[in-house]
Amino acid sequence: MTSHPPRIAIYPGSFDPLTSGHVDIIERGAKIFDSIIVAILANVEKTPLFTENERIAIIRDVFKGHENVQVETFSGLLVDYAQLKNASVLVRGLRAVSDFEYEFQMALMNRHLAPGIETVFMMPDEKYTYISSRLIKEVFTLGGEITGLVPPVVEEKLRAKQKAKKGSR
Ligand SMILES: Nc1ncnc2c1ncn2[C@@H]1O[C@H](COP(=O)(O)OP(=O)(O)OP(=O)(O)O)[C@@H](O)[C@H]1O
Ligand SMILES: [Mg+2]
Repeated sequence: MTSHPPRIAIYPGSFDPLTSGHVDIIERGAKIFDSIIVAILANVEKTPLFTENERIAIIRDVFKGHENVQVETFSGLLVDYAQLKNASVLVRGLRAVSDFEYEFQMALMNRHLAPGIETVFMMPDEKYTYISSRLIKEVFTLGGEITGLVPPVVEEKLRAKQKAKKGSR
């Protein structure tokens, strides 16, 4: 058997909030890499629904017991963060052709910036291909059913936020 340094992957995103599509990709990544760091991009959106700490807590809760799944936040260039973590792989999810152009551009830019880091694309189970955090928030706000599209803890937290908002009106 040849030994190699641990293969660490970074899965970056905003995860506002975590969806079943994200969970699917993280589980697939955790199977093929020694460890996967779910990296929440800090301060991109001025008004995220969930704070960074809430997003971290949700992902940690969903992946408790999965020792090779870690959760952190980062800011600045993704490749700088990846190098800091000794990661050699960036994981991205591909839902549809519409994701491709942007992802292709980002992957090549990241390769330009850091030739030693590879981007790996993974496809979720087809039942998750239409899910995005933005659409989940929109549908939930309008009273639509989101059970199964997000982990149960996310649905709970969304309800709690809705209640708090109603209470403060
Ligand atoms: N349902 C899904 N299946 C597979 N990959 C996904 C899914 N949703 C998001 N991803 C991937 O996860 C990564 C992080 O994405 P991001 O945080 O933007 O999630 P998002 O659901 O697209 O959120 P938003 O709607 O706010 O853009 C990206 O590589 C994205 O393509
Ligand atoms: Mg997105």
